[in-house]
Amino acid sequence: MSARFLSSTVNVSTSAKCSPTKAKEAVFVPFAEGGFGSSGATPGKHHAGYIEPIHSKVFKLALSIPFRKGSVFTIGDYGAADAQFQVIHEDQGENDFNSLFRRLTGIIPEPPSYLLTMDNVYAFACGTDFYKQCVPSNSMHFIMCMMSVHWLSQLPTVYRDSIYVYYESLKEEKVALRRQAQADWEKFLLMRSRELREGGVLFVGSPAAYMDQKTCRLRHYGEKLVTLMTDVWKSFTISGKIARHEFINTNFPCCLRNTDQIREPFEIEGSQVLALGQHLLPK
Ligand SMILES: C[S@@+](CC[C@H](N)C(=O)[O-])C[C@H]1O[C@@H](n2cnc3c(N)ncnc32)[C@H](O)[C@@H]1O
Repeated sequence: MSARFLSSTVNVSTSAKCSPTKAKEAVFVPFAEGGFGSSGATPGKHHAGYIEPIHSKVFKLALSIPFRKGSVFTIGDYGAADAQFQVIHEDQGENDFNSLFRRLTGIIPEPPSYLLTMDNVYAFACGTDFYKQCVPSNSMHFIMCMMSVHWLSQLPTVYRDSIYVYYESLKEEKVALRRQAQADWEKFLLMRSRELREGGVLFVGSPAAYMDQKTCRLRHYGEKLVTLMTDVWKSFTISGKIARHEFINTNFPCCLRNTDQIREPFEIEGSQVLALGQHLLPK
């Protein structure tokens, strides 16, 4: 089986969720008010902008996917949140799928849903973790996954002095993060290899790390957020708002990989990803 993979790494900001539903109320309360502040309304728009430079390339690729006239063309939107895209919308079981369907049917009107203007398009949801196989083997023509694969399957380590790895982090913390991140990335690709049909395309957009040529330091898109949160959290330990163990136990289970890490599963000798016929497309 052979499938193709196109990646886009960018520096962007992620979404924050959560206003918990009151247990007694029968009415539906989305995780974020009316969808505002959740992924579809804010980061979703930004993310669309970040992939703009390769938009037409992705559409051309989609047209090149082998497809028998009259059969069903299947598209997956992995790590969808409450997205605006198509057709099998996948996310973790605890995701706010109710908001997703409210968007798709137009109950939450903005941004406009593709379902309201297109015939013969059908939307489904899948609540399976994307580090597992989410749909039957050989069933997908096109899978996209925007701004989601930086979330790891588990916390790789407990950072002693920050909430995410940073320049001065201990070597063993950096090694643990890299190991977990690469294992997860390979797992994600292997699962998608099973799901994609012959000639199918996987398109992944991910926040990334890059080498700052001036300082020769590895930098990443979330630096400001991580630094600010670490500083605030530290100040809370000093003021006594939180205990030292609470500081230590606050960690982001994510990894902002650099381009080499993204490419690794397609380039290392004996790679399972290559063995399954996936290859990286040139930019
Ligand atoms: C920043 S949002 C991206 C939403 C949307 N794709 C976009 O670009 O606006 C990241 C999403 O990834 C999902 N996610 C994180 N880990 C996941 C996993 N293991 N399986 C499936 N979805 C996951 C989160 O639940 C969240 O909805």
